[in-house]
Amino acid sequence: MKKTITLTAAIILGLTAFAQNDISTKAKALLAKMTLDEKIGQLNLVTPGGGMLTGAVVSSDVESKIKKGQVGGLFGIYSPEKVRKAQDLAVKESRLHIPMIFGLDVIHGHKTIFPIPLGLSASWDMGLIEASAQIAAKEATADGLNWAFSPMVDIARDARWGRISEGSGEDPFLGGEVAKAVVHGYQGKNLAANNTMMACVKHFALYGGAEAGREYNTVDMSRIKMYEYYLPPYKAAIDAGAGSIMSSFNEIDAVPASGNQWLLTDLLRKQWGFKGFVVSDYTSVNEMTAHGIGDLQTVSAKALKAGLDMDMVGEGMLTTLSKSIKEGKVSIADVDQACLRILEAKFKLGLFDDPYRYIDDARPAKDILTAENREASRKMAAHSMVLLRNNHQILPLKKSGTIALVGPLAHNRRNMLGTWVVAGDWQKSVSVYEGMQQAVGNTANIIYAKGANITDDAKFAAHVNVFGVQADIDTRSPADMINEAVAAANKADVIVAVVGESADMSGESSSRADISIPASQQTLLKALSATGKPLVIVLINGRPLTLVWENEHATAILEAWAPGTEAGNAIADVLFGAYNPSGKITATFPRSVGQIPIYYNHKNTGRPFDGTGIGKFKSNYLDESNDPLYPFGYGLSYTKFEYSDIKLSKKELKGNEKLTASVVLKNAGNYAGEEVVQLYISDPVASITRSVKDLKGFQKVSLQAGESKTVSFEIGTEQLSFFNSDLKKVWEPGEFIIQIGTSSAEVKSEKLVWNK
Ligand code: BGC
Repeated sequence: MKKTITLTAAIILGLTAFAQNDISTKAKALLAKMTLDEKIGQLNLVTPGGGMLTGAVVSSDVESKIKKGQVGGLFGIYSPEKVRKAQDLAVKESRLHIPMIFGLDVIHGHKTIFPIPLGLSASWDMGLIEASAQIAAKEATADGLNWAFSPMVDIARDARWGRISEGSGEDPFLGGEVAKAVVHGYQGKNLAANNTMMACVKHFALYGGAEAGREYNTVDMSRIKMYEYYLPPYKAAIDAGAGSIMSSFNEIDAVPASGNQWLLTDLLRKQWGFKGFVVSDYTSVNEMTAHGIGDLQTVSAKALKAGLDMDMVGEGMLTTLSKSIKEGKVSIADVDQACLRILEAKFKLGLFDDPYRYIDDARPAKDILTAENREASRKMAAHSMVLLRNNHQILPLKKSGTIALVGPLAHNRRNMLGTWVVAGDWQKSVSVYEGMQQAVGNTANIIYAKGANITDDAKFAAHVNVFGVQADIDTRSPADMINEAVAAANKADVIVAVVGESADMSGESSSRADISIPASQQTLLKALSATGKPLVIVLINGRPLTLVWENEHATAILEAWAPGTEAGNAIADVLFGAYNPSGKITATFPRSVGQIPIYYNHKNTGRPFDGTGIGKFKSNYLDESNDPLYPFGYGLSYTKFEYSDIKLSKKELKGNEKLTASVVLKNAGNYAGEEVVQLYISDPVASITRSVKDLKGFQKVSLQAGESKTVSFEIGTEQLSFFNSDLKKVWEPGEFIIQIGTSSAEVKSEKLVWNK
């Protein structure tokens, strides 16, 4: 098994076994020429920092380190000019002329920004997701880069955690599919080509399991939970050939990930056969000191011993490893191993053949923010949006009459790109107002009013405005703004209210204890609702929100996430029906924060509550339902899809047999549309407790109005298998319930028996 995986990875990296041997021979030959200090230097990843970007490219300190061979890679700078200057220092002025690798947080696009990853995953469209990563790689490599700190594949079941926006939600199977698509998109078939770049899977591991959803917090979970629910997406990315992986900030089994030998060596390399290199997260090696593991020398030695190869920013390895070698705490062989892995990555990227292969002054103008890339982003954004509610078929809107367009995010470019857009320029984005105005021309009248601040709370605003003012506080009073919006609403046939979160209200270091729409905007929505006019809410946000009031009072709700550069155009496409929404949420929307963690693939308790009666001595809340507001996999369409009952090709199976489960899907509405058909399987009796159901397949199907199609899934024992108490992947005979449907909560089901 391991062999197959390594081979697949090698093929994807564009390496035959021969080429791989060749690379390792070349890397070893180079290593033999290096001094110990030069080897340690390769383990050092630094960022020159903001002030340096417009100056001498790199700070004098970093500059002299590069010349001395003390830097293996740089991140945080881009553009052919800057990267060339930095690469010159390494290639022309260091003793062995070893090129550097250049990384950046290319997360959902480089300069043409795509929707935030949680939005990308809601499209369930692996082809589009792969294409978005391919475009990101084309743009980033045109800017001199060759290493993307992405995909982020951390499973998250807690919407308080701000970084839920950067991943693919709560499901390990879907998360794995997205991880593969993104890795393939970045790395292509030939990693040494000048338009592909190395992926860095992060954050290894379990970062999304932070207690209470509080950023950087403790993670503590059973091995079964890890193997079954949290680890599969990392493994899928590695099997897809990802060249590097980033360790996470959190601890695992009471040992921080960056110094965790079980994680970085036993699991990652011995069990999974990973051959690339491991980089720490930003100063995560140093942070082991605050975790209580020891001083900088101790933690740096521990990290190296554990299997960490490259130290991001903290320079603990650079400054302490020689001492640790002298004291016998680490060996030269430990350093050699890490250094070799980094050199091999540089060989794979083709940097030894041509250190300047990603540096071409002509490319930015040709490859970045092109009309074609923007068009792809617009399409991706429309496909990522999720229609949460559509009463009286108010959507799609007609391009006539008067539309009151209100809300702090309605005429706002600043917040359309979302979190983690290092190279993205918000001024290049399209506001909702601009997109809608463009779509209607002069056939409809749009009256705009801001209506509210994103937040009225100055302290909260200061917190989210660290990267520039995203949540501004208007000079007008909240009452004045609301009055203006209500006046606009009174003149209109329909209200479109664009509300939610500013870009950095989700993302790193953006945990929220209250995940509702901020109070200022809720007050606005209530005033708008009181006008009695149809109220369409367009949500811009990076995480599931609590929307009970909105769900009850809005006529329609469109979840648009942070849609990226083409935000306004894509939203207009969906609102006016040029694109019929097909997204489905990939993270459960709770009714209230008290239900968190809430996720569809939960276990049954010994006292399950069936929702009837008061439920005394059952597993429930006194003051809240057990059900989410919107379940995993949920999302509406302008058309109506009907599912037939499931047809199983066999109802009794044995051993390695397979069956086909199919449904006839009919588009019974008036619009052409796409539906994400989801396959879930339940295993009601097993040697360990299983979740109530698990996603095992999905297909995105396109149907004209009135058209029907048979949608089939092949099912084998692989889809029945799980990690048992010995952490062995097994399937156990018995009854299984096959479910196919439109969301995790709305399925057709059929039973079958599978014998050994
Ligand atoms: C984040 C990573 C990111 C790194 C470099 C860290 O704070 O956790 O996701 O790649 O910074 O910018």
